Parts: sequence; C-alpha cells; structure tokens
Amino acid sequence: MCGIVAYSGPKDASKILLEGLVALEYRGYDSAGLVTTHSGIFKAVGPVAELKKKVPESVGGSTGIAHTRWATHGVPSELNAHPHEDCGKTIALVHNGIIENYQELKSALQKAGHTFSSETDTEVIAHLYESYKTAGKTPKDAFLATLRELEGTYGIALIDRAHPDVVLVACMGSPIVIGIGDGEHFIASDPSAIVRHTKKVLYLNDGEVAIVTPRECQVMTLGAKKISRAPETIEWEVEEAKKGGHAHFMLKEIMEGPEVLRTSARGRLRPEEGDVKLGGLLSITHELKRIKRITIVGCGSAYYAGLVGKYMLEEYAGIATDIDVGSEFRYRGLPLEEGAAVLAVSQSGETADTLASIREAKRRGLLTLGIVNVVGSTIARETDAGVYNHAGPEIGVASTKAFLSQLEVLALLTIFLGRQRHLSDTEAKRIAKELASIPEKVEKILKNVEPIKRAAERLKGATNALYIGRKYNMPIALEGALKLKEVSYVHAEGYGAGEMKHGPIAMIEPSFPTVAIAPRDSVYAKMISNIEEIKARKGPVIAVATEGDTEIAKKADEVIHIPETHEMLTPILSVVPLQLLAYYVGVAKGYNVDRPRNLAKSVTVE
Ligand code: G6P
Repeated sequence: MCGIVAYSGPKDASKILLEGLVALEYRGYDSAGLVTTHSGIFKAVGPVAELKKKVPESVGGSTGIAHTRWATHGVPSELNAHPHEDCGKTIALVHNGIIENYQELKSALQKAGHTFSSETDTEVIAHLYESYKTAGKTPKDAFLATLRELEGTYGIALIDRAHPDVVLVACMGSPIVIGIGDGEHFIASDPSAIVRHTKKVLYLNDGEVAIVTPRECQVMTLGAKKISRAPETIEWEVEEAKKGGHAHFMLKEIMEGPEVLRTSARGRLRPEEGDVKLGGLLSITHELKRIKRITIVGCGSAYYAGLVGKYMLEEYAGIATDIDVGSEFRYRGLPLEEGAAVLAVSQSGETADTLASIREAKRRGLLTLGIVNVVGSTIARETDAGVYNHAGPEIGVASTKAFLSQLEVLALLTIFLGRQRHLSDTEAKRIAKELASIPEKVEKILKNVEPIKRAAERLKGATNALYIGRKYNMPIALEGALKLKEVSYVHAEGYGAGEMKHGPIAMIEPSFPTVAIAPRDSVYAKMISNIEEIKARKGPVIAVATEGDTEIAKKADEVIHIPETHEMLTPILSVVPLQLLAYYVGVAKGYNVDRPRNLAKSVTVE
C-alpha cells in the first residue's frame, strides 16, 4: 500500500526523503508529498518525479516526513495527498492504513471547531493530536492519547514544529521499520527505503510507539511502558528489499494474500450478524434492490474472478447473472432490460475493453458497478457505484493477490445482495463466518509449499497440461491454466471437467499431465470419476483436494491439500496453490515471472 519515509539527523532531510520515496514507489504512486520541520508542505499528484519537480534544491530542515500514496479514502489529489496538518499547522503527519472510526472522530472534532481540508481518514489524527496538545499535554502524551482513540490500522510518522528534531512514530497492523545510523535515524514502511543508508534496523510491533531523535530511539507501548529490544541486521540488498526479501514480486504478492484478504474485508464483513456493509454502494441501495440481472464484464484473470462471481450471485443472491469478456461485450447487441446492471471487475480500472463495455452500458442507460483495485482509476470514476479491493499495488504482471481480493469482494457482494433478497440469516452467517476465517486458511496453504514444489517438478518438463474443475472450481481451472501459460509458457487448457469427454480426453497419455481441482464439495464424486477416467488412460494427475481426503491420494500422483471451507469460498483457497505452481514452474524454467514476454500489466489498447 502507501509508503512512508522519515528522517531525523544532521543532513538535509528533503534529499533523503525523496530518495526514499523513489525506492518505495512500487507501493503506491498516485500522489506524493513531503515536509520538513523548516519547510511548508510539498505535494504532487502522480509519480514521485512530479514531486521532485516541485521541491527546490535547498529546502532546509534536517527532520522530515514523506509519503507516497495509494489512495483508499478520497480520490488521488493534492488535497488528499499526505502529509496532513492540524488547524494551527504546527504539526504534520503521514499515515498508512485505514482509520475505521474516522467518521465518528471527525464529527466530534468538527463539533469542537476543527476545520478539515481533505477527504482522508488520516486527517483526524492530526486534529486529535492538536486537541490534546491544546489541552496541555506533552507531545509524547498527546501522541499516545491520540493513538488510543484510533480503531483500525496505522503506520504513522508525525513531526511537531515546536520540537524540531523529533519524529513520533507508531505501528498497528501497518509495518514500520527504524534504521539506526550514526547520529541519525531513518524511518520507513519497509526496508527498501533504508538499506542504502543502514542495515541496522528495529521493526516496531503492533501497538508500539517510538520517539525518535538523531541520537535516540525510545520504544514504548501505547500505555507508555518502555520496551528495549536489540536491533537486527538485514542482509538484503536494495533490489531484494523492494520485494520484501522475496525473489520476485509475484511470490511476494502471493504471500501477501492473507493480508490482502483481511484488508479487503475490513470494516465490511460482519460475521456475527451475517451481513456486509459496503460504503461504496450506499448511494444506490434502492436501485440495487431492483436489480433483476447482472452482467459481469472483465478481461483475463478479472474475467475468471467474475465467472466465480456468477456462480455465487446466482446460487446465494438469487440474481440471474451472465458474464462476458470486455472485448465481446462491447460489440454485443445487448437487449435493454429493466433492472439490468453491468458489473466491471478490473484490478487496474483502466483495461480498454472493460472500460468500453462500461461506457456502452451507460450509453444504453444501464446501472454500472465496479470492483476495482486502483482508487480514482477511470472505471472507478465512470461507474455509478462500486467497491474497492484495497489490495495494494500489484506489480507482477500476472494477477495473484488482486484475484484473491476480487473473489472475496464478489463474496461480500453476494452476501450484501442476498440479504436484500432471500438469503437466509443462517446461511449468510455461515458464509460470513467462513469468509472471516479464510485469511488464516490461506496462511496455512502458504506454510506448506513442499507438495506444490513437487507438483511443479512434474509439470516443468511437460509441453501441455490440462486443468479441470467443476462448478465453483471450473473458473479456477481456467485461471490455473492461464497462470501457467503466462509465466512458464507451458501450453495449458482449462476445462469444465464434465466437458472432458467431449474432446480433451483424446489428448491424455503418460506425458500429458492434468491438474484436477477436487475439494470435498457438491460435485466431488463427479470429479473423482473424471480422475479415474484420466488414470485409466495413464495420464498423470495432480489433485487439489480437501485436507483429510485420503481417498484421492490413492488415485492421484500428487495431492496438494487445502483446508475445508464453505463450497462457495473454495476458489479463494484452491487458486493459491495454482498460482504458486505456475510460479515454481516459471522459475524452474528460468523465466522472468514478473514480466512475462509479450504481456502488459494494464492493457489500455483494444
Ligand atoms: C492483463 C493482466 C492480467 C489481468 C488483465 C485484466 O492481461 O496481465 O493479469 O487479469 O489484464 O486487467 P484488469 O486490470 O482489468 O484486472
């Protein structure tokens, strides 16, 4: 997500901050800003290069903070870019994360006379701190009192012009690392902004605060209890650091899956009530009740996520749903139906065919919705309403973490629309509770990659592969095959397992492997029959199956286990090993999995 960098030491802070921002740009790049204790705030929309143009050679000040933003609340604009200030403009802060109770805090602060100048959740922190300072508290106490009022996640760096060499830092669910130099300290949201200056670092844990000056770094709890911890040494070099120590962005992003799933559901999913709150759809609650048909549009992986969404929306929200790739939808003579809506699924929010489909739907007077990752992107702006993924920037060209988040948001939407219709309280609670525990289950898959690596060994020598699945996992067969093609250049086809007998089975022979997605769900027995049919023709089978399924191990050559969950949510689990499988095969073949040949992250031409 967003990136933070801060400095306290003897040098010109602005130079160090700008350098740090460039290193952090992979985390977000829709706007950036910086301030030192001796300067005004500099902000620019767009990449850090735009900010650089605005910052003069000599800014002054050897303590400062900076931020590169990846918008979650409020469009990317100078007003919403960080740093944010209080009314008296004596302090400034940068923040990563989401303050969930910001609306309540904002209303109370406004009543108390504070004037806000942005749409962000972040700004409440500045005004809260100001109110405690005005009430006579010291910077440390005002900071701690402020933090104790915040609900949600944060990584914060704050400077107070009355105390020009201090940076106040806090961490709760959004990482902060402090680099220890010789008479200087560097603060950042990840080590990539720091490793060029020092390898001696201290990571803050959740609920920890640090008061940083050039010579000192005092760490404490939110209750002001001192913590002493020895610094660690990071071994990473600059390039590795950007990837969080992983060899590739693709692997880093797969590993971020659990965190992304938590973020996408935060503040939205209410498992105890079996309900979902989607702020982005509030303005059209009544129109949503009248929807009779949804057409989902997307390209690539987003299309396959939409295909899972079709199964979800039809079975649990009771809404007839069809789906098309953007490049077909835009040329279809779509009949105008009352109560029809078009839902675009797009990570970038810029894919040309998906965008053209939305424009076509609008031209025909249909309600348009979006599930989009990049805040303020064209599709996000042009749809009538929508839901953001909040999955953070995805750098790997082949979509991984954004795909997981798309599936989760589609599940949230299904509960939301289902509750407006006939989805029972009991079923909604069942789905919502399972959805709440999905991040841990993904974590479990990611902790046991050995079977996936073994499966990759089997696949890497193949020239062709078949992926099969049924019902909710049919689209995952298509997505698994697409991932393998994209990053390892092994030709793979995804098929609904029931269609196997209508063609693909002719290909089966000992050198032609099949990946069968067969969790214990309502179509499990049918998947087992398909596996038997392949084995009878001496085809090797790699199965993705539910934990504890010992039966399948007798039939398949390799089994990758996933935890048990609600049938509707199995794709969120089953796709993870398939992403890793493609990754390992691509790496074993020596390819640059982050930038596959001929592909682009965002396809903005037809
Ligand atoms: C490209 C990317 C895919 C992505 C597709 C749709 O082909 O390589 O990973 O799924 O575009 O992109 P979107 O940004 O609309 O989700």
